[in-house]
Amino acid sequence: MTQALPLATLYGPVAEDMILVEDLLESTKKVEISALKRMLDHALESRGKRLRPALVLLAGTFGDYNLNRLVPLGAAIELLHTASLVHDDVVDGAASRRGRPTMNSLFDNAITVLLGDYLFANAAEMVTRTGSIHVTRLFALALMKMTSGELDQDAAAFDVGRDIQHYLWRIGGKTAALFANATEGGASLAGCDRDSVEALRSYGYSVGMAFQIVDDILDFNGDEAEMGKPVGGDLREGTVTLPALLYLERFPKDNPIKRFFTARRNREEHLQEALAGIRTAGVLEDSMEMAREYVRRGNEALSALPSTPARQSLVEIGAYVLARRS
Ligand code: IPE
Ligand code: IPE
Ligand code: MG
Ligand code: MG
Repeated sequence: MTQALPLATLYGPVAEDMILVEDLLESTKKVEISALKRMLDHALESRGKRLRPALVLLAGTFGDYNLNRLVPLGAAIELLHTASLVHDDVVDGAASRRGRPTMNSLFDNAITVLLGDYLFANAAEMVTRTGSIHVTRLFALALMKMTSGELDQDAAAFDVGRDIQHYLWRIGGKTAALFANATEGGASLAGCDRDSVEALRSYGYSVGMAFQIVDDILDFNGDEAEMGKPVGGDLREGTVTLPALLYLERFPKDNPIKRFFTARRNREEHLQEALAGIRTAGVLEDSMEMAREYVRRGNEALSALPSTPARQSLVEIGAYVLARRS
């Protein structure tokens, strides 16, 4: 039986059609090799929020709302997202995701990377079902940007010399590119005019930026059980996110982050001091203000579109992204 869909109220006019995305995702578990099947079952069993496919369908409502093309794009983007999380958890050495043990905690890294590859290939096959070379190209470009962002994050680990501009470029790649792909792809498939496609792309990008900024805030003040994934790991792993950058900017001298990154001894003490500093210096609020600004820009982009229930739903998704705790 299909369980209740996550965030159904938020997805308003497309909530029911999201079941078709679920069905298509379910069909990807049907493989003969039993070892692969076990892994796919685990990777796809616990659902995430399904934000990206909902964005595909919502964007599609502004043109010819053809589910035969929009649903495969929604499923493709969710598979791509899931694959990127499987790989991200290997990179981050994370133990839980969506409230369950990660693939890399159950299997070894090499096998987990191969499962991620399988999911990427599955996503690529799925996107060809849209019949659009343009959308397939956008999809490939989004994946290139995501991988570049993730690689850059690794290259910049434990480096306090990067600025906010650099951080914004990175999250634009690793996260906002896929949100933008969801709304731009959905609008393109629906044959929207150029201005509407651009408005929806811009909305997706802005909300994606806000989404990652909030994720980076929640890494400092979120609840592990609610999030279903580890929190507090970014700084420990050397990932300098917006709150840490603002904290470095505010206290350029003798900053506990710098001490943590360079110390040979008492590293845990320095880390705890840095975490406490970030939590109390007001930088989480300042980061949230930046996320709000991105959502405002997203809403501004939407004003080019007709006022419909789908547009209202997009506005509510922006508000949800700012308020979310999971
Ligand atoms: C997690 O994305 C990865 C980030 C971009 C921070 P989501 O929070 O959308 O993950 P699920 O799909 O709901 O698990
Ligand atoms: C987002 O970065 C990961 C991807 C976009 C693949 P994070 O590393 O912050 O994501 P979480 O916190 O593990 O979900
Ligand atoms: Mg991670
Ligand atoms: Mg995170």
